[in-house]
Amino acid sequence: MVDNILVAVAWPYANGSIHLGQAAGCYLPADIFARYHRLKGNNVLMVSGSDSHGTPITLQAEKTGKSPDDIVSAFHNEFLDNWDKFGISFDLFTSTRTENHSSVVKKIFNKLLEKGHIYKSIMSQPFCQQDNRFLPDRYVEGICPNCDFEGARGDQCDNCGRTLDPEDLKNIRCRICSSMPEFRDSEHFFLKLTDFQDSLGKWIDTKKYWRANVKNFSKSYVQKGLKDRAITRDIDWGVSVPIEGYESKRIYVWFEAVIGYLSASIEWAELNKGKWEDFWTGDSRAYYFMGKDNIPFHTIIWPAILTGYENLNLPYDVPANEYLQLEGLKFSTSRDWAVWLPEYLDKYEPDPLRYVLTAIMPETSDSDFTWEQYKRLNNDELLATFGNLVHRTLTMLNRNFDSKIPQRPDELDPDSSELLKFANERLKDVAVNIELCKFKLALDSAMKIARNANQYLDNKKPWHTIKSSVAETEKTLWVSLSILNCLKIALHPFLPFTAEKLHLMLGYQDEVTLSGWSWDPDDLVSGSILPKPKPLFKKLDIDSED
Ligand code: MF3
Ligand code: ZN
Repeated sequence: MVDNILVAVAWPYANGSIHLGQAAGCYLPADIFARYHRLKGNNVLMVSGSDSHGTPITLQAEKTGKSPDDIVSAFHNEFLDNWDKFGISFDLFTSTRTENHSSVVKKIFNKLLEKGHIYKSIMSQPFCQQDNRFLPDRYVEGICPNCDFEGARGDQCDNCGRTLDPEDLKNIRCRICSSMPEFRDSEHFFLKLTDFQDSLGKWIDTKKYWRANVKNFSKSYVQKGLKDRAITRDIDWGVSVPIEGYESKRIYVWFEAVIGYLSASIEWAELNKGKWEDFWTGDSRAYYFMGKDNIPFHTIIWPAILTGYENLNLPYDVPANEYLQLEGLKFSTSRDWAVWLPEYLDKYEPDPLRYVLTAIMPETSDSDFTWEQYKRLNNDELLATFGNLVHRTLTMLNRNFDSKIPQRPDELDPDSSELLKFANERLKDVAVNIELCKFKLALDSAMKIARNANQYLDNKKPWHTIKSSVAETEKTLWVSLSILNCLKIALHPFLPFTAEKLHLMLGYQDEVTLSGWSWDPDDLVSGSILPKPKPLFKKLDIDSED
Protein backbone atom coordinates (compact mmCIF):
# COMPACT_ATOMS: atom_id res chain seq x y z
CA MET A 1 0.00 0.00 0.00
CA VAL A 2 1.27 3.46 -0.85
CA ASP A 3 1.08 6.06 1.92
CA ASN A 4 0.65 9.80 1.45
CA ILE A 5 3.08 11.63 3.66
CA LEU A 6 3.33 15.36 4.22
CA VAL A 7 6.77 16.42 5.39
CA ALA A 8 6.17 19.88 6.83
CA VAL A 9 9.33 21.72 7.80
CA ALA A 10 9.50 24.87 9.95
CA TRP A 11 9.73 28.01 7.83
CA PRO A 12 12.99 29.86 8.51
CA TYR A 13 12.71 33.60 9.12
CA ALA A 14 14.14 35.32 6.08
CA ASN A 15 16.18 37.68 8.25
CA GLY A 16 19.47 35.81 8.49
CA SER A 17 21.49 32.85 7.28
CA ILE A 18 20.77 29.28 8.30
CA HIS A 19 23.16 27.94 10.92
CA LEU A 20 24.09 24.36 11.75
CA GLY A 21 21.70 24.35 14.73
CA GLN A 22 18.77 24.79 12.37
CA ALA A 23 20.22 22.35 9.86
CA ALA A 24 20.45 19.62 12.51
CA GLY A 25 17.22 20.71 14.20
CA CYS A 26 14.84 20.37 11.30
CA TYR A 27 16.06 20.54 7.68
CA LEU A 28 18.29 17.49 7.80
CA PRO A 29 15.95 15.18 9.74
CA ALA A 30 13.06 16.19 7.47
CA ASP A 31 15.16 15.46 4.40
CA ILE A 32 16.30 12.03 5.64
CA PHE A 33 12.69 11.18 6.37
CA ALA A 34 11.43 12.39 2.98
CA ARG A 35 14.17 10.64 1.00
CA TYR A 36 13.52 7.36 2.77
CA HIS A 37 9.78 7.48 2.15
CA ARG A 38 10.28 8.35 -1.51
CA LEU A 39 12.62 5.36 -1.87
CA LYS A 40 10.05 3.19 -0.20
CA GLY A 41 7.59 4.21 -2.87
CA ASN A 42 5.35 6.41 -0.78
CA ASN A 43 3.94 9.69 -2.03
CA VAL A 44 5.83 12.44 -0.29
CA LEU A 45 5.16 16.15 -0.29
CA MET A 46 7.89 18.09 1.46
CA VAL A 47 7.16 21.78 1.83
CA SER A 48 8.36 24.88 3.58
CA GLY A 49 9.27 28.43 2.68
CA SER A 50 10.68 31.72 3.83
CA ASP A 51 8.87 33.11 6.87
CA SER A 52 8.83 36.65 5.57
CA HIS A 53 6.62 38.71 7.84
CA GLY A 54 6.44 40.01 11.36
CA THR A 55 8.79 41.82 13.64
CA PRO A 56 11.81 39.54 13.08
CA ILE A 57 11.95 40.95 9.57
CA THR A 58 11.08 44.60 10.29
CA LEU A 59 13.60 44.81 13.13
CA GLN A 60 16.32 43.50 10.84
CA ALA A 61 15.27 45.97 8.15
CA GLU A 62 15.45 48.88 10.59
CA LYS A 63 18.79 47.70 11.90
CA THR A 64 20.39 47.46 8.47
CA GLY A 65 18.62 50.37 6.79
CA LYS A 66 17.20 48.10 4.09
CA SER A 67 13.63 47.50 3.06
CA PRO A 68 11.89 44.39 4.40
CA ASP A 69 11.39 43.29 0.81
CA ASP A 70 15.12 43.43 0.02
CA ILE A 71 16.01 41.48 3.14
CA VAL A 72 13.45 38.81 2.50
CA SER A 73 14.34 38.25 -1.13
CA ALA A 74 18.07 38.13 -0.49
CA PHE A 75 17.73 35.46 2.19
CA HIS A 76 15.12 33.56 0.23
CA ASN A 77 17.61 33.16 -2.61
CA GLU A 78 20.31 32.18 -0.19
CA PHE A 79 18.07 29.48 1.32
CA LEU A 80 17.31 28.02 -2.11
CA ASP A 81 21.02 27.82 -2.81
CA ASN A 82 21.63 26.14 0.58
CA TRP A 83 19.00 23.45 -0.06
CA ASP A 84 20.52 22.72 -3.42
CA LYS A 85 24.07 22.37 -2.13
CA PHE A 86 23.18 20.59 1.09
CA GLY A 87 20.75 18.23 -0.66
CA ILE A 88 17.59 19.26 1.19
CA SER A 89 15.03 17.93 -1.26
CA PHE A 90 11.98 20.15 -0.93
CA ASP A 91 9.14 19.55 -3.36
CA LEU A 92 8.38 23.22 -2.87
CA PHE A 93 10.16 25.89 -0.90
CA THR A 94 8.05 29.00 -1.27
CA SER A 95 7.50 32.14 0.77
CA THR A 96 4.77 33.76 2.82
CA ARG A 97 4.92 36.73 0.40
CA THR A 98 2.90 34.99 -2.33
CA GLU A 99 -0.60 36.00 -3.40
CA ASN A 100 -1.66 32.42 -2.90
CA HIS A 101 -0.52 32.44 0.72
CA SER A 102 -2.38 35.68 1.57
CA SER A 103 -5.53 34.40 -0.01
CA VAL A 104 -5.45 31.07 1.86
CA VAL A 105 -4.74 32.91 5.13
CA LYS A 106 -7.67 35.28 4.55
CA LYS A 107 -9.98 32.43 3.70
CA ILE A 108 -9.15 30.64 6.94
CA PHE A 109 -9.37 33.88 8.94
CA ASN A 110 -12.84 34.59 7.52
CA LYS A 111 -14.12 31.10 8.14
CA LEU A 112 -12.94 31.10 11.76
CA LEU A 113 -14.48 34.55 12.20
CA GLU A 114 -17.77 33.31 10.76
CA LYS A 115 -17.77 30.35 13.11
CA GLY A 116 -17.04 32.52 16.12
CA HIS A 117 -13.54 31.12 16.76
CA ILE A 118 -12.14 34.59 16.04
CA TYR A 119 -13.58 37.66 17.73
CA LYS A 120 -12.77 41.35 18.19
CA SER A 121 -11.70 42.80 21.48
CA ILE A 122 -9.75 45.64 23.01
CA MET A 123 -6.24 44.83 24.02
CA SER A 124 -3.76 46.80 25.97
CA GLN A 125 -0.56 47.10 23.88
CA PRO A 126 2.82 48.54 24.75
CA PHE A 127 3.36 51.95 23.13
CA CYS A 128 6.69 53.76 23.14
CA GLN A 129 6.36 57.52 23.61
CA GLN A 130 9.95 58.14 22.51
CA ASP A 131 9.50 56.29 19.25
CA ASN A 132 5.82 57.16 18.94
CA ARG A 133 4.72 53.68 17.98
CA PHE A 134 3.19 50.46 19.19
CA LEU A 135 5.71 47.79 20.16
CA PRO A 136 4.49 44.34 19.17
CA ASP A 137 6.29 41.04 19.80
CA ARG A 138 10.04 41.42 19.35
CA TYR A 139 9.99 45.19 19.86
CA VAL A 140 9.77 44.60 23.61
CA GLU A 141 11.77 42.54 26.05
CA GLY A 142 11.32 41.78 29.70
CA ILE A 143 11.39 39.12 32.37
CA CYS A 144 9.41 35.94 31.73
CA PRO A 145 6.59 35.47 34.27
CA ASN A 146 6.98 31.72 33.91
CA CYS A 147 10.72 31.12 34.30
CA ASP A 148 12.22 34.54 35.17
CA PHE A 149 14.39 34.56 32.04
CA GLU A 150 15.61 38.15 31.45
CA GLY A 151 15.32 38.34 27.67
CA ALA A 152 11.76 37.14 27.09
CA ARG A 153 10.04 38.77 24.10
CA GLY A 154 6.53 40.12 23.69
CA ASP A 155 5.19 36.91 22.17
CA GLN A 156 7.37 34.12 23.51
CA CYS A 157 10.04 33.26 26.03
CA ASP A 158 13.03 31.67 24.33
CA ASN A 159 14.08 30.01 27.53
CA CYS A 160 10.98 28.07 28.60
CA GLY A 161 9.06 28.17 25.33
CA ARG A 162 5.86 29.69 26.75
CA THR A 163 3.90 31.94 24.47
CA LEU A 164 3.34 35.34 26.08
CA ASP A 165 1.49 38.62 25.71
CA PRO A 166 3.41 41.87 26.33
CA GLU A 167 1.34 42.50 29.45
CA ASP A 168 2.80 39.34 31.00
CA LEU A 169 6.38 40.64 30.90
CA LYS A 170 7.93 42.04 34.04
CA ASN A 171 10.25 45.01 33.65
CA ILE A 172 9.19 45.56 30.04
CA ARG A 173 11.48 47.70 27.83
CA CYS A 174 11.40 49.06 24.29
CA ARG A 175 14.04 47.32 22.21
CA ILE A 176 14.66 50.40 20.09
CA CYS A 177 15.33 52.94 22.85
CA SER A 178 15.27 50.90 26.08
CA SER A 179 12.67 53.15 27.69
CA MET A 180 9.67 51.72 29.49
CA PRO A 181 6.62 51.74 27.25
CA GLU A 182 3.15 52.75 28.39
CA PHE A 183 0.12 50.61 27.59
CA ARG A 184 -2.53 51.90 25.21
CA ASP A 185 -5.76 50.31 24.16
CA SER A 186 -5.96 48.98 20.66
CA GLU A 187 -8.62 46.89 18.99
CA HIS A 188 -7.54 43.45 17.78
CA PHE A 189 -8.82 40.08 16.65
CA PHE A 190 -8.41 37.14 18.99
CA LEU A 191 -8.21 33.44 18.33
CA LYS A 192 -10.55 31.76 20.79
CA LEU A 193 -8.21 29.03 21.97
CA THR A 194 -10.56 28.38 24.90
CA ASP A 195 -12.92 26.76 22.37
CA PHE A 196 -10.37 24.01 21.88
CA GLN A 197 -9.29 23.34 25.45
CA ASP A 198 -11.04 19.96 25.70
CA SER A 199 -10.55 18.69 22.20
CA LEU A 200 -6.84 19.52 22.12
CA GLY A 201 -6.29 17.90 25.51
CA LYS A 202 -7.95 14.70 24.32
CA TRP A 203 -6.13 14.78 21.01
CA ILE A 204 -2.73 15.11 22.66
CA ASP A 205 -3.57 12.18 24.95
CA THR A 206 -3.95 9.94 21.90
CA LYS A 207 -0.41 10.74 20.75
CA LYS A 208 1.30 7.89 22.58
CA TYR A 209 4.16 7.80 20.08
CA TRP A 210 5.16 11.47 20.34
CA ARG A 211 8.59 12.26 21.72
CA ALA A 212 8.45 12.72 25.48
CA ASN A 213 9.58 16.36 25.38
CA VAL A 214 6.92 17.28 22.81
CA LYS A 215 4.17 15.39 24.56
CA ASN A 216 4.95 16.67 28.06
CA PHE A 217 5.34 20.26 26.98
CA SER A 218 2.07 20.22 25.05
CA LYS A 219 0.15 18.41 27.74
CA SER A 220 1.20 20.77 30.49
CA TYR A 221 0.51 23.72 28.18
CA VAL A 222 -3.11 22.64 27.86
CA GLN A 223 -3.38 21.70 31.52
CA LYS A 224 -2.35 25.20 32.58
CA GLY A 225 -5.43 26.40 30.72
CA LEU A 226 -5.50 27.84 27.21
CA LYS A 227 -5.92 31.59 26.84
CA ASP A 228 -7.38 33.39 23.82
CA ARG A 229 -4.60 35.10 21.86
CA ALA A 230 -4.46 38.26 19.79
CA ILE A 231 -3.76 37.39 16.16
CA THR A 232 -3.46 40.89 14.70
CA ARG A 233 -0.82 43.53 15.30
CA ASP A 234 -0.29 47.29 14.94
CA ILE A 235 2.31 46.96 12.22
CA ASP A 236 2.38 47.54 8.46
CA TRP A 237 4.40 44.53 7.26
CA GLY A 238 2.45 41.30 6.84
CA VAL A 239 -0.77 39.80 5.55
CA SER A 240 -3.52 42.41 5.74
CA VAL A 241 -6.67 41.86 7.76
CA PRO A 242 -9.56 41.04 5.40
CA ILE A 243 -12.00 43.31 7.28
CA GLU A 244 -12.75 46.95 6.54
CA GLY A 245 -11.42 49.43 9.06
CA TYR A 246 -8.30 47.41 9.89
CA GLU A 247 -6.03 48.77 7.17
CA SER A 248 -3.38 49.85 9.65
CA LYS A 249 -3.05 46.35 11.16
CA ARG A 250 -1.64 43.04 9.98
CA ILE A 251 -2.19 39.42 10.87
CA TYR A 252 0.21 38.07 13.50
CA VAL A 253 3.12 36.30 11.86
CA TRP A 254 2.65 33.02 13.71
CA PHE A 255 -1.04 32.80 12.84
CA GLU A 256 -0.29 33.08 9.14
CA ALA A 257 3.07 31.26 8.94
CA VAL A 258 1.65 27.94 10.14
CA ILE A 259 -1.04 28.26 7.46
CA GLY A 260 1.91 28.22 5.06
CA TYR A 261 2.02 24.43 5.23
CA LEU A 262 -1.41 24.35 3.64
CA SER A 263 -0.92 27.23 1.21
CA ALA A 264 2.40 25.74 0.06
CA SER A 265 0.68 22.40 -0.57
CA ILE A 266 -1.96 24.18 -2.65
CA GLU A 267 0.72 26.06 -4.58
CA TRP A 268 2.61 22.81 -5.19
CA ALA A 269 -0.57 21.18 -6.51
CA GLU A 270 -1.17 24.04 -8.93
CA LEU A 271 2.40 23.95 -10.21
CA ASN A 272 2.54 20.16 -10.55
CA LYS A 273 -1.03 19.19 -11.38
CA GLY A 274 -1.07 17.28 -8.10
CA LYS A 275 -3.78 16.90 -5.51
CA TRP A 276 -3.00 18.72 -2.27
CA GLU A 277 -5.97 17.00 -0.64
CA ASP A 278 -4.06 13.70 -0.83
CA PHE A 279 -1.77 15.07 1.87
CA TRP A 280 -4.36 16.72 4.08
CA THR A 281 -7.29 14.32 4.28
CA GLY A 282 -8.06 10.64 4.72
CA ASP A 283 -5.25 8.32 5.83
CA SER A 284 -2.46 10.71 4.94
CA ARG A 285 0.00 11.46 7.71
CA ALA A 286 1.61 14.84 8.39
CA TYR A 287 5.00 15.07 10.11
CA TYR A 288 6.16 18.49 11.32
CA PHE A 289 9.90 19.03 11.78
CA MET A 290 11.21 21.89 13.95
CA GLY A 291 13.29 22.99 16.90
CA LYS A 292 11.77 22.88 20.38
CA ASP A 293 10.95 26.61 20.56
CA ASN A 294 8.35 26.02 17.83
CA ILE A 295 6.42 23.30 19.69
CA PRO A 296 3.40 25.29 21.00
CA PHE A 297 2.67 26.73 17.58
CA HIS A 298 2.52 23.24 16.06
CA THR A 299 0.87 21.23 18.82
CA ILE A 300 -1.58 23.88 20.09
CA ILE A 301 -2.16 26.88 17.82
CA TRP A 302 -2.01 25.20 14.40
CA PRO A 303 -4.12 22.22 15.55
CA ALA A 304 -6.64 24.70 17.01
CA ILE A 305 -6.85 26.56 13.68
CA LEU A 306 -7.25 23.26 11.81
CA THR A 307 -9.90 22.01 14.23
CA GLY A 308 -11.85 25.24 13.84
CA TYR A 309 -11.54 25.17 10.08
CA GLU A 310 -12.62 21.50 9.98
CA ASN A 311 -12.02 18.61 7.57
CA LEU A 312 -8.23 18.77 7.40
CA ASN A 313 -5.85 16.42 9.18
CA LEU A 314 -4.09 17.52 12.33
CA PRO A 315 -0.38 16.75 12.75
CA TYR A 316 0.35 13.04 12.99
CA ASP A 317 3.75 13.53 14.57
CA VAL A 318 5.78 16.54 15.68
CA PRO A 319 9.32 15.22 16.09
CA ALA A 320 10.76 18.46 17.47
CA ASN A 321 14.44 18.46 18.32
CA GLU A 322 16.24 19.93 21.30
CA TYR A 323 19.06 22.37 20.63
CA LEU A 324 22.43 21.83 19.05
CA GLN A 325 25.07 23.97 20.72
CA LEU A 326 28.37 25.17 19.34
CA GLU A 327 31.45 24.37 21.39
CA GLY A 328 29.32 24.30 24.55
CA LEU A 329 27.41 27.55 23.96
CA LYS A 330 24.01 28.27 22.46
CA PHE A 331 23.99 29.34 18.79
CA SER A 332 23.35 33.05 18.71
CA THR A 333 22.79 35.18 15.66
CA SER A 334 23.10 38.43 17.56
CA ARG A 335 26.42 37.43 19.13
CA ASP A 336 27.55 35.89 15.83
CA TRP A 337 28.24 32.59 17.58
CA ALA A 338 27.38 30.17 14.85
CA VAL A 339 28.60 28.10 11.95
CA TRP A 340 26.67 29.39 8.98
CA LEU A 341 25.49 26.78 6.52
CA PRO A 342 26.28 28.86 3.40
CA GLU A 343 29.83 29.46 4.62
CA TYR A 344 30.33 25.78 5.33
CA LEU A 345 28.96 24.81 1.92
CA ASP A 346 31.25 27.26 0.15
CA LYS A 347 34.27 25.44 1.52
CA TYR A 348 33.41 21.84 2.27
CA GLU A 349 31.45 18.81 1.10
CA PRO A 350 27.82 18.39 2.17
CA ASP A 351 27.79 14.69 3.08
CA PRO A 352 30.39 14.73 5.89
CA LEU A 353 28.34 17.44 7.59
CA ARG A 354 25.13 15.49 7.03
CA TYR A 355 26.83 12.50 8.61
CA VAL A 356 28.12 14.37 11.63
CA LEU A 357 24.91 16.31 12.27
CA THR A 358 22.91 13.09 12.13
CA ALA A 359 25.33 11.31 14.45
CA ILE A 360 24.94 14.08 17.05
CA MET A 361 21.34 15.06 16.30
CA PRO A 362 19.74 16.54 19.45
CA GLU A 363 16.77 14.17 19.42
CA THR A 364 16.24 13.70 23.13
CA SER A 365 18.63 16.18 24.71
CA ASP A 366 20.76 19.15 23.72
CA SER A 367 23.99 18.19 22.00
CA ASP A 368 27.19 19.90 21.06
CA PHE A 369 28.93 20.54 17.74
CA THR A 370 32.69 20.99 17.80
CA TRP A 371 35.07 21.09 14.85
CA GLU A 372 37.28 18.58 16.53
CA GLN A 373 34.46 16.09 16.73
CA TYR A 374 33.46 16.88 13.16
CA LYS A 375 36.93 15.90 11.99
CA ARG A 376 37.06 12.89 14.24
CA LEU A 377 33.74 11.49 13.02
CA ASN A 378 34.75 12.21 9.43
CA ASN A 379 38.07 10.43 9.83
CA ASP A 380 37.23 7.62 12.23
CA GLU A 381 33.75 6.65 11.09
CA LEU A 382 32.81 7.97 7.70
CA LEU A 383 36.23 7.46 6.16
CA ALA A 384 37.72 4.66 8.25
CA THR A 385 34.61 2.50 8.28
CA PHE A 386 32.46 3.21 5.25
CA GLY A 387 34.94 4.88 2.89
CA ASN A 388 37.58 2.31 3.63
CA LEU A 389 35.25 -0.61 3.00
CA VAL A 390 34.35 0.81 -0.40
CA HIS A 391 37.92 1.63 -1.24
CA ARG A 392 39.51 -1.65 -0.33
CA THR A 393 36.83 -3.70 -2.04
CA LEU A 394 37.06 -1.73 -5.27
CA THR A 395 40.84 -1.46 -5.36
CA MET A 396 41.26 -5.20 -4.77
CA LEU A 397 38.81 -5.86 -7.57
CA ASN A 398 40.72 -3.45 -9.75
CA ARG A 399 44.13 -4.88 -8.98
CA ASN A 400 43.27 -8.55 -9.26
CA PHE A 401 40.29 -8.76 -11.57
CA ASP A 402 40.56 -5.67 -13.76
CA SER A 403 37.47 -4.29 -12.02
CA LYS A 404 35.21 -7.01 -13.38
CA ILE A 405 32.35 -8.06 -11.11
CA PRO A 406 32.69 -11.81 -10.44
CA GLN A 407 29.99 -14.41 -11.10
CA ARG A 408 27.59 -15.10 -8.28
CA PRO A 409 29.14 -17.97 -6.27
CA ASP A 410 27.20 -21.25 -6.52
CA GLU A 411 27.46 -21.71 -2.83
CA LEU A 412 28.19 -19.35 0.02
CA ASP A 413 30.11 -20.32 3.11
CA PRO A 414 28.42 -19.69 6.49
CA ASP A 415 30.34 -16.46 7.18
CA SER A 416 29.28 -14.99 3.88
CA SER A 417 25.63 -15.99 4.25
CA GLU A 418 25.63 -14.64 7.73
CA LEU A 419 26.99 -11.28 6.68
CA LEU A 420 24.39 -10.95 3.93
CA LYS A 421 21.65 -11.87 6.39
CA PHE A 422 23.00 -9.39 8.93
CA ALA A 423 22.96 -6.63 6.31
CA ASN A 424 19.40 -7.43 5.40
CA GLU A 425 18.31 -7.23 9.02
CA ARG A 426 20.12 -3.95 9.63
CA LEU A 427 18.55 -2.52 6.49
CA LYS A 428 15.20 -3.28 8.10
CA ASP A 429 16.33 -1.58 11.31
CA VAL A 430 17.26 1.52 9.34
CA ALA A 431 13.75 1.59 7.89
CA VAL A 432 11.99 1.07 11.20
CA ASN A 433 14.06 3.72 12.94
CA ILE A 434 13.59 6.32 10.22
CA GLU A 435 9.84 5.67 10.29
CA LEU A 436 9.93 6.34 14.05
CA CYS A 437 12.00 9.51 13.46
CA LYS A 438 14.94 7.98 15.33
CA PHE A 439 17.59 9.14 12.92
CA LYS A 440 20.65 8.60 15.09
CA LEU A 441 19.73 4.97 15.63
CA ALA A 442 18.94 4.58 11.96
CA LEU A 443 22.36 5.85 10.93
CA ASP A 444 23.97 3.60 13.48
CA SER A 445 22.16 0.56 12.07
CA ALA A 446 23.47 1.38 8.61
CA MET A 447 27.03 1.83 9.86
CA LYS A 448 26.89 -1.55 11.58
CA ILE A 449 26.67 -3.11 8.15
CA ALA A 450 29.90 -1.40 7.11
CA ARG A 451 31.59 -2.33 10.37
CA ASN A 452 30.73 -6.01 10.06
CA ALA A 453 31.73 -6.07 6.43
CA ASN A 454 35.16 -4.72 7.33
CA GLN A 455 35.46 -7.43 9.92
CA TYR A 456 34.49 -9.98 7.31
CA LEU A 457 37.24 -8.77 4.97
CA ASP A 458 39.75 -8.82 7.80
CA ASN A 459 38.89 -12.46 8.45
CA LYS A 460 38.74 -13.54 4.82
CA LYS A 461 41.98 -11.79 3.88
CA PRO A 462 41.40 -11.68 0.12
CA TRP A 463 44.86 -10.05 -0.28
CA HIS A 464 46.29 -13.39 0.94
CA THR A 465 43.84 -15.78 -0.66
CA ILE A 466 44.51 -14.29 -4.08
CA LYS A 467 47.85 -16.14 -3.98
CA SER A 468 46.28 -19.51 -3.24
CA SER A 469 42.71 -19.44 -4.57
CA VAL A 470 41.27 -17.11 -7.16
CA ALA A 471 37.84 -18.65 -6.73
CA GLU A 472 37.85 -18.07 -3.00
CA THR A 473 38.90 -14.46 -3.51
CA GLU A 474 36.20 -13.88 -6.10
CA LYS A 475 33.60 -15.11 -3.66
CA THR A 476 34.78 -12.74 -0.95
CA LEU A 477 34.76 -9.77 -3.28
CA TRP A 478 31.37 -10.68 -4.68
CA VAL A 479 29.97 -10.64 -1.14
CA SER A 480 31.67 -7.32 -0.37
CA LEU A 481 30.35 -5.75 -3.55
CA SER A 482 26.89 -6.94 -2.65
CA ILE A 483 27.23 -5.27 0.72
CA LEU A 484 28.22 -2.01 -1.00
CA ASN A 485 25.06 -2.31 -3.05
CA CYS A 486 23.14 -2.57 0.21
CA LEU A 487 24.97 0.33 1.82
CA LYS A 488 24.26 2.72 -1.01
CA ILE A 489 20.57 2.23 -0.25
CA ALA A 490 20.83 2.16 3.53
CA LEU A 491 22.89 5.35 3.53
CA HIS A 492 21.12 7.14 0.73
CA PRO A 493 18.75 9.14 2.97
CA PHE A 494 21.71 10.36 5.02
CA LEU A 495 24.41 10.73 2.36
CA PRO A 496 22.59 11.28 -0.94
CA PHE A 497 25.57 12.65 -2.87
CA THR A 498 27.84 9.79 -1.78
CA ALA A 499 25.18 7.16 -2.46
CA GLU A 500 24.85 8.45 -6.00
CA LYS A 501 28.64 8.31 -6.50
CA LEU A 502 28.83 4.81 -5.11
CA HIS A 503 26.02 3.71 -7.40
CA LEU A 504 28.07 4.85 -10.42
CA MET A 505 31.18 3.22 -8.98
CA LEU A 506 29.25 -0.05 -8.85
CA GLY A 507 28.75 0.13 -12.58
CA TYR A 508 25.23 1.52 -12.83
CA GLN A 509 24.39 4.40 -15.07
CA ASP A 510 20.94 5.34 -13.80
CA GLU A 511 19.95 6.97 -10.54
CA VAL A 512 20.41 5.22 -7.23
CA THR A 513 16.83 6.02 -6.22
CA LEU A 514 15.34 3.97 -9.06
CA SER A 515 15.83 0.66 -7.29
CA GLY A 516 13.65 1.80 -4.39
CA TRP A 517 14.15 0.77 -0.77
CA SER A 518 15.06 -2.81 -1.54
CA TRP A 519 18.19 -4.85 -1.82
CA ASP A 520 18.81 -8.31 -3.12
CA PRO A 521 22.38 -9.63 -2.90
CA ASP A 522 21.93 -10.98 -6.43
CA ASP A 523 21.33 -7.48 -7.82
CA LEU A 524 25.00 -7.23 -8.82
CA VAL A 525 25.57 -7.25 -12.57
CA SER A 526 28.24 -9.95 -12.91
CA GLY A 527 30.70 -9.38 -15.70
CA SER A 528 30.35 -5.63 -15.81
CA ILE A 529 33.53 -3.61 -15.57
CA LEU A 530 33.61 -0.95 -12.90
CA PRO A 531 35.19 2.45 -13.31
CA LYS A 532 38.53 3.12 -11.66
CA PRO A 533 37.89 3.53 -7.92
CA LYS A 534 38.33 6.94 -6.32
CA PRO A 535 38.18 7.64 -2.58
CA LEU A 536 34.77 8.87 -1.41
CA PHE A 537 36.02 11.01 1.48
CA LYS A 538 38.97 13.15 2.44
CA LYS A 539 40.94 12.71 5.62
CA LEU A 540 40.96 15.92 7.66
CA ASP A 541 43.88 17.16 9.67
CA ILE A 542 42.79 17.13 13.30
CA ASP A 543 45.44 19.62 14.40
CA SER A 544 44.97 22.21 11.68
CA GLU A 545 42.99 25.35 12.53
CA ASP A 546 40.39 25.11 9.80
N1 MF3 B 1 10.13 31.25 11.51
C1 MF3 B 1 9.93 30.47 12.68
C2 MF3 B 1 11.25 30.26 13.40
O1 MF3 B 1 12.28 30.39 12.79
C3 MF3 B 1 9.33 29.12 12.37
C4 MF3 B 1 8.00 29.23 11.70
S1 MF3 B 1 7.35 27.69 11.43
C5 MF3 B 1 5.86 28.05 10.70
O2 MF3 B 1 11.23 29.98 14.58
F1 MF3 B 1 5.27 27.01 10.48
F2 MF3 B 1 5.16 28.77 11.44
F3 MF3 B 1 6.09 28.66 9.61
ZN1 ZN C 1 10.26 31.71 30.31
